[in-house]
Order: sequence, then structure tokens, then C-alpha cells
Amino acid sequence: MGVLGRFMVGVTKCMPKFFIASVARRYVAGKDIESAVTVMRKLSSEGACFTIDVLGEEISNLEEAQFFIDEYDRVLDAIVENNLDANLSIKPTAFGLLIDEMKAYDNIERLLRKAAENEIFVRLDMEDYRVTQPTIDIVLAMHEKGLHNVGTVLQSRLFRTSADIDAICDKLGGAADFRICKGVYLEHESISLTEYQTIVEAMNSHIDQILDRSAYAGVASHDWPVIKHTLSALEARGMSPSNPDPRDGCSVNRNGKGPGYEFQMLLGVRGNIRRRLAKDGHRTRIYVPYGERWYEYSMRRLDENPDVAMYIVKSIFMPWTNRR
Ligand code: FDA
Repeated sequence: MGVLGRFMVGVTKCMPKFFIASVARRYVAGKDIESAVTVMRKLSSEGACFTIDVLGEEISNLEEAQFFIDEYDRVLDAIVENNLDANLSIKPTAFGLLIDEMKAYDNIERLLRKAAENEIFVRLDMEDYRVTQPTIDIVLAMHEKGLHNVGTVLQSRLFRTSADIDAICDKLGGAADFRICKGVYLEHESISLTEYQTIVEAMNSHIDQILDRSAYAGVASHDWPVIKHTLSALEARGMSPSNPDPRDGCSVNRNGKGPGYEFQMLLGVRGNIRRRLAKDGHRTRIYVPYGERWYEYSMRRLDENPDVAMYIVKSIFMPWTNRR
């Protein structure tokens, strides 16, 4: 897959922008928040809820952070005005984390306070290894300030993740709220697993660990072995869509989230599995990216993980493998 994936990245990058745009339409909700609202309204009928991501690249100066501050402000207003069951996904580097840490903290805190006024949760997406600890530190610092409407993402391919789950749960107890995923950044083998099977095993074990620590588990995967494992792990713990969370220490207010867990998937990917889960009553959340900078964003994701190019090619030529 590696060499073929890289070849497909090369081929994809040579394709005209209008063709890439027609493919991206499946995965990106449009250029502005109005388009994203239209997409979410349509998908609400499936019983899904949402997390909204403003597309963008790592910024190079603090003035650029203002764009994200203003845009996420508009997103919060749109969620409230349209009565959407949605939260936010933000990238800490877009708020200045790698330029001026204190300023980034201020920017994120202001957003969290406005979100909290409207009982909206904010997820800090996890970027590459340079910001793993700084991102976790933001979550812990905000909880210390009484802002509990924030949680992070952990990446199962990283060796450190099991220790991170324990450290965060030790500090936050039942208020710990994770999105757990494989991790899209192909990190160096000195800090990360590199083989598919070992990553799946690690992710399954992290899901068990999160559930056993009575934390909230947002399971972000389209991979059937992971979803199947999650369903059995939930059953083994007496957790189900129709029961209140039976685990110890789970009386914390989860602001309308699922009973201790939810399934999360990217817009445009494996809708058939998502709909099946929703039909069985599970809470399903769709990650909805939108923004002007969709082209740069898509190209960067391809560079970070060439497998994505293969998924896209597969979904074009074998559409039955990935229905929206
Ligand atoms: P796997 O890679 O095995 O994919 C299973 C199947 O799903 C593929 O065969 C393909 O059909 C389809 N598929 C998966 N990804 C696709 C894609 N991008 N385009 C088209 N088809 C695709 N990572 C990270 O490092 N930090 C983060 O904050 C997040 N946030 C996040 C949120 C949500 C809601 C999701 C679903 C995922 C993330 N990720 C992420 C990405 C995650 O780490 C991982 O790279 C992808 O989900 C792919 O892994 P899967 O477990 O889905 O399996």
C-alpha cells in the first residue's frame, strides 16, 4: 500500500483542480458555514449529530489566528441559531500554539467560554507529535479553570497513548472525554506503531481502557474490526444506547451526549455503517469540515497519509465500498 499510495498521491496531485473539487465535494461540506449548515440539516434526518471543523493550515503568524477565532465564533452562532446538535473541532496550532503558547491559551479559553454559555463542547483535534503534550496540557489547564466542555483526541498508533489515558483520567475522573482514533500522521517508528494490525489491536485496547476508566469514549473509526470490538466491549460492560451509563463515577453532566460513548465518522466516509449504527440507536457523530482552503487542506492530508489517496480512488471506482 505504501508505494502504491505514494504513486496515487503523485497522480492525484497532477489532476486538474476542478476534478479534485468534484471529489472533495463528498468529504468537504462547502466553502462557508451556510453550506455546512445545509449539509448538516440534510444529514440530521439520519439521527446523526455533528462536530464542525473550519479547514485551515498551521498558521505562520498570530494575525492568521484571528481568522479562526472569528470563524469559530460564527460557527457557534450558527449552531445556536439553527438549533443544531453539533459541537466544535479545533486545531490548537490554528490558534497559535506553536507561535505563542500563552496567546493560544487565551484564544482557546475565550472560545470555550462562549461555547460553555451555550452548552457546546469543544474537541481539540490532535495534530502531529510536536503538539501531543501541549494539546493535553491545554485540556487539563482549562478543566482547572472550571471549563469542563473540552476534551482531546488521542492517537492509538503512538506508544504513549495508554499512559496518556491514565494520566488524564487520574486528573479529570469521569469528566475525561476522549476521541480515540488510529492517528492520521505517520510518525517515526521510534514513537509509533507502523503496522495496520498492531494499530487496530492498540486501538481496541485503548477503547477498553477508556471504558474501564469511566471516561467518555468517542470512537472515531470506519474500520469494521474496531467498530465490532467496540460493540462487544460495550455489551460486556452493560452499556447500550437505551440504558443510562452504568459505570462507576458516570453521574457527570454530559450535556446531551451519548450514554458514555458515541461513534464518530468523517463526512462522506462509510455512511452505510454509520446509518446502521444509528438505526440500532447508537449516537453517531459526523465530522463536518468546511472552508475556503479545502484544496490546500486536502493536499496536505494526502502528504501526511498516502493511504487516503487509495481510499478516495477506491471510492470513485468501487463506490459500493464507501457510500456517503
Ligand atoms: P482505516 O484507515 O482502516 O479505514 C477503514 C476504511 O474507511 C477504509 O478502507 C476507507 O474505505 C475508509 N476511510 C478511512 N479514512 C478515510 C478517508 N480519509 N477518506 C476516505 N475513506 C476513508 N486523526 C488524527 O491524527 N487526529 C485527529 O484529531 C483525528 N480526528 C478524527 C475524527 C474523526 C471523526 C475520524 C473518523 C477520524 C479522525 N482522525 C484523526 C483520523 C484517524 O486517525 C484515521 O486516520 C482515520 O479515521 C482512518 O482510520 P480508520 O480507523 O477509519 O480505519
